[in-house]
Amino acid sequence: MSDDADQGDAVTARVRAFYRRFPYPRLPEGGPAGIGHLLNDLSSIRHHVFDGTMPANRPVRVLIAGGGTGQSVMLLGAALQAAKLRHELVYADLSEESATIARRRAEAYGVQDVRYIVGPLEALDAEQIGRFDYIELYGVINHVADPAVTLRRLSGLLTDEGGIGVMAYGALGRTGIYPVQKALRLLSGPEGEPTVDLARTFLNGLPADNWVRKNPHLADLPNLDDVELADRFLNPNDRAFEVRDLAALCAIGGLAIRAFVPAGLYAPERHCRDAALHDRLRGMNPIDRAQMAEWLQGTLHVHEFFAAPTARAAADMIVWLSEETTRLVPRALKADVFSQISAAAGQAVEIDLKFGGMTRTLRVAFEPSEAIVVGLLPEQPTIGRVIETLHRQGFDNAAAVAAIRRVWDAFHAVGTLHLAREP
Ligand SMILES: C[S@@+](CC[C@H](N)C(=O)[O-])C[C@H]1O[C@@H](n2cnc3c(N)ncnc32)[C@H](O)[C@@H]1O
Repeated sequence: MSDDADQGDAVTARVRAFYRRFPYPRLPEGGPAGIGHLLNDLSSIRHHVFDGTMPANRPVRVLIAGGGTGQSVMLLGAALQAAKLRHELVYADLSEESATIARRRAEAYGVQDVRYIVGPLEALDAEQIGRFDYIELYGVINHVADPAVTLRRLSGLLTDEGGIGVMAYGALGRTGIYPVQKALRLLSGPEGEPTVDLARTFLNGLPADNWVRKNPHLADLPNLDDVELADRFLNPNDRAFEVRDLAALCAIGGLAIRAFVPAGLYAPERHCRDAALHDRLRGMNPIDRAQMAEWLQGTLHVHEFFAAPTARAAADMIVWLSEETTRLVPRALKADVFSQISAAAGQAVEIDLKFGGMTRTLRVAFEPSEAIVVGLLPEQPTIGRVIETLHRQGFDNAAAVAAIRRVWDAFHAVGTLHLAREP
C-alpha cells in the first residue's frame, strides 16, 4: 500500500472514532427534524437529477452516503414510499453508532427495507452493491481523507442517467472556525485530543471582535449541544470549499455540476448592487457565475449542488417550462402561503424561508395574472392547465407565459418550486 493510502486510512480511522463518539446530528427520537433540504427532497431530486421524470421501469436505487443518524433515510425513504415508487434504499456510514441510531429511528418512522452498511465509502464496490440512480452526500465530503478519491469512487457507483447531491462546507461563511480548531489542537498537545470542555472554555474567553463572535452563522454558539459543538470545532478532519474548488474536484471525480441550489443564492446579479456589472456577470459560464455569487455574498457557509457523470449535460429547464404537460411542484411552503399571496395580488407579501441554514425573508408582489398562477400551485398544475385557467380569465398567451415565468423565477430561486414531467 502507498504512503498516501496509509495516510488516508489513518485519517479515516480518526474520523470514524470521532463519529462513533459523537454520532451526528443529535436528533430527537421519533420523526425527522424539520422539513429537510433540497438534496433529500424528492421534487428537487427529480427536477435536478432526472430532468423531471424519475426512472419508472425499474426500482429507483438510492444511496445515502455518510448517512449519520438517519435524517435523510427517514425523509427520502418516507417520500419514496408515499410516492409509491419502487425503490431500493441503501445507507452507508463509517460509524456503527450512527448506523444503529439511524436504523432505530427509521424503523420507528415506518421506513423499512433499508440496507445498512458500516464502513468507508471509499470501499464501496459496484460489483457488490450495484449502481445507484441517486447518491446523497450531505456534509460528508468535508471530512473524508481525499475528496477527489471519494467522489471518483461514488461517481463509479452511479448509473449513466444518475446523479449525486452534495453538501460541502462553504469556506467564506465558516470564517473564524478554523483558527479555533487549530488553537484547540495546539492547546491539547501532540498526543492529546481537544475536548468539549476545553472548546467551551476557549470560546467563552474569546474577545468580542473574534470572527467566531462576529460571524452571523455562529450566533447560536452559546446554545450548542455537545455534539454540535464537537462537530464544529473538534472534528479531526474538516475542510471547507469555494465553488471553483468543488467544480475542480468533481471534474477529477468524473462529474459535472448541474446546479448549485437554491438557484437564487448562486445568481450573482441578485447580490451585486451595481447594475453596471450585471452584463459582465451574465456573460460568465455557470461555475464562474456561482463563484462570483459566493464572493459577492461572502457569507455562504454551505454549498449544496447536484452533479452527474460528465457526459450528461444539464437539461434546459426553460424548454421544459414551456411543455404543456410539465407540472409545477411546490415544496416546503404551507398551502395557505399560496392563498395568502394569491389574495394579495398587486401588494407585497413577505414569506420567511429557511435555506442555506438561515432564515431569509422573500418579499414578493405579484400581478393579478401571477397571483392566479400562485393560487393554483398547491394542486401541482400542469403548465397547460395554468395557461387554460389564465385564458379563461381573459389573459392572452403571451401574458400567461410571462406570468408563469415570473412565478417560476421567484419561487425556484429560493428552492420552493420544481418541475416534473409526465413519464
Ligand atoms: C457531519 S455528518 C453528516 C451526517 C448526515 N449526512 C447528515 O447530514 O445528517 C458526517 C457523516 O459522514 C460519515 N463519514 C465521514 N467520512 C466517511 C467515510 N469516509 N466513509 C463513510 N462515512 C463517512 C461520518 O461517520 C458521519 O456520520
